[in-house]
Amino acid sequence: MSENILLGITGSIASSKSEVLFQLLNKQNNVEIFSTNEGLKYVSQDFQNENTIYSSWDQLEGSPHIEYARWADKVIIYPATANFISKYAHGLADDLLLSTLLMFDKDIYIAPAMHEEMFMDKKIQENILNLSNKVTFCGPRFGNLDIGDQGIGRLVEPNELFDILYTKKDKVIVTSGPTSEYIDDVRVITNKSSGKQGRAIAIELMSQGYEVVYIHSKDIEPVAGVRNIIFETSEDLLKAMDSETNNLKHLFMVAAVSDFVIKKTKGKIDRSKGEASINLSPNIDIVKEYKLKNRDVNVISFSAQTNNDLNFEKIKSKDSDYLVINNLSDNYFGSDMNKVTIINKSEKIYESGDENKHLIAQKIIQNTII
Ligand SMILES: Cc1cc2nc3c(=O)[nH]c(=O)nc-3n(C[C@H](O)[C@H](O)[C@H](O)COP(=O)(O)O)c2cc1C
Repeated sequence: MSENILLGITGSIASSKSEVLFQLLNKQNNVEIFSTNEGLKYVSQDFQNENTIYSSWDQLEGSPHIEYARWADKVIIYPATANFISKYAHGLADDLLLSTLLMFDKDIYIAPAMHEEMFMDKKIQENILNLSNKVTFCGPRFGNLDIGDQGIGRLVEPNELFDILYTKKDKVIVTSGPTSEYIDDVRVITNKSSGKQGRAIAIELMSQGYEVVYIHSKDIEPVAGVRNIIFETSEDLLKAMDSETNNLKHLFMVAAVSDFVIKKTKGKIDRSKGEASINLSPNIDIVKEYKLKNRDVNVISFSAQTNNDLNFEKIKSKDSDYLVINNLSDNYFGSDMNKVTIINKSEKIYESGDENKHLIAQKIIQNTII
């Protein structure tokens, strides 16, 4: 089915990729191109000569922001700069593209591209989080950036964006970070999981167009652009997972769930009363419980170990479809690197080298979502 698509270009070093996206979209759709003034600097002269790109009010008559907003079925901002995202998040309308976007009330896709430091800036993260209830964010992902750097901020490729538009991808839950179990009203038992591997998986899945629900510990960073739910205790975590089972296809159970729960003491245990003890009882196996109730969900469990044993007993006891084993003796908690082995119930299916957690995330997804 042919659609009316407004392709918006902004001033990123990656903007020349919009020329490829335009060719893909234009095969079966009516595509109009709007650009910011800065965006024009990064698309080739040939592309500008061959196509009409609207970047100024003076090129059009009447009220083009109203007319084009009503004409378009979809608006795609590819790529979107930090500047553009922030202006849009705050309702600025000081050029043709921003004004049209503010007028537009149908499907909006935004593919950010910028250096990691810009992307991780608190204000940019906040702006993306605020926009994500009305916009589909496509990336950015980890990869090569400008001036030979690597980091999160790389634009998704044109064909990937095209797939996001026309192939509906599954709903996925990624859980991440440590649980905290309350000893009394002010103290907890927790663990040193950083949440980085889970976060990297959520970012990569979002870049690939999956509908991601990121259920993460209260004290670790959200993933801007996806649905975030916070947990504190293992009980909260299971409740959050249960609330998102509708249409769910895959669960990446990366959260480090406490093996023990505690009978919580009300108030604050008083030091002046002398020695105190806490009573630990074994926690339920959350993944096992979940799989029992949700047989059709593809469950990927994670096992932090101090050896490389292929733990077939564990994958069977958890009744998971895959187990990702990481040997803690190779990498400390909180490291950006990881080394994993993936097994299914009968065999080893993948072993990685020591690599950045984002690259490991890509390998885990490739080997477990089929
Ligand atoms: C060579 C070069 C590359 C740039 N690449 C990016 C980029 O990838 N992402 C970004 O957010 N800003 C980038 N900038 C900065 C933007 O171009 C600048 O913020 C500009 O004001 C954006 O304008 P616009 O959002 O109206 O298009 C780059 C600047 C230069 C000089």
